[in-house]
Amino acid sequence: MTARLAGRVAWISGAALGIGAATARLFAAEGASVVIVDIRGAEGEQIVSEINAAGGQAFYSSCDVSNSEQVRESIALSVAQFGGLHIVVNCAGIVHVGLLHEYAEHDWDRLMGVNVKSIFFSLKHALPHLGRNARSYMVNVGSISSHVGQRATPAYTASKGAVLSLTQSMALDYAALGLRCNCVCPGITDTPMLREHLDTTPNPEETPRQRVRRVPMHRAMQPDDIARTILYLSCEDSAGVTGTSIVVDGGYLAAAEWDTADDSPLLRDQSSPGEES
Ligand SMILES: NC(=O)c1ccc[n+]([C@@H]2O[C@H](COP(=O)([O-])OP(=O)(O)OC[C@H]3O[C@@H](n4cnc5c(N)ncnc54)[C@H](O)[C@@H]3O)[C@@H](O)[C@H]2O)c1
Repeated sequence: MTARLAGRVAWISGAALGIGAATARLFAAEGASVVIVDIRGAEGEQIVSEINAAGGQAFYSSCDVSNSEQVRESIALSVAQFGGLHIVVNCAGIVHVGLLHEYAEHDWDRLMGVNVKSIFFSLKHALPHLGRNARSYMVNVGSISSHVGQRATPAYTASKGAVLSLTQSMALDYAALGLRCNCVCPGITDTPMLREHLDTTPNPEETPRQRVRRVPMHRAMQPDDIARTILYLSCEDSAGVTGTSIVVDGGYLAAAEWDTADDSPLLRDQSSPGEES
């Protein structure tokens, strides 16, 4: 089997941790040259070492994605280093927990800068390079909150709604250039961001169990689950797919109300195999 991303160059933001790091490892294993874009130097260099030790090609680019000039420089450096650019994955994101009336203006601006404006900047600075390829790819990481509201994180929810609508609009405007733009919307995913978020809840031990009970698949997503969907949208396995989103949430959004606390008829059948129904 040939590597799906052989000869491709991928610029991946938020790649020092969590979903971004899993995506960088997977892309490198599939043959891509990978740029680890983040503000966490030590963790970013660690991912680079792992990829290079496994025979892949990667380097770390220190870049605050909410800063246009830094994004421009990071993309220029990537092209200079690897000779082109084919894939942009906008994965960097932050959460701010609080009620809207208690937000300071800079909390709102910071979150929108990292989660949304960053996509504008990456498109603006990457397009001249992406446009040189017959086919190129942008994958933006949204969330289940691109589709529904969520308590105590109003700016995050608004930002993830914007990620989806921005993706749809870019898909229309750049399809003629061969650029496909799609969105991946993770559900509850076991990453440092999730753990940090859970620490702000009154009962950090119990909250993950409660949340996962709402997931029909009975588990949190793993960063790899999300990375594999990002890979699908970053190669010709998804030829023909643009301007849409794929939700990777273990079934979380499929039901309005759901508590899987051992009441599945399937589980009942398994626990009493001899009984007639
Ligand atoms: N973990 C979840 O449950 C979950 C659910 C839905 C969506 N998401 C989304 O997935 C994406 C990745 O989240 P994660 O859970 O892996 O988070 P994470 O916190 O584990 O990783 C995020 C990475 O983004 C980097 N980052 C933050 N601000 C940055 C900036 N200004 N410039 C460059 N890099 C920056 C961080 O340093 C970190 O390496 C985010 O967009 C997040 O909103 C996560």
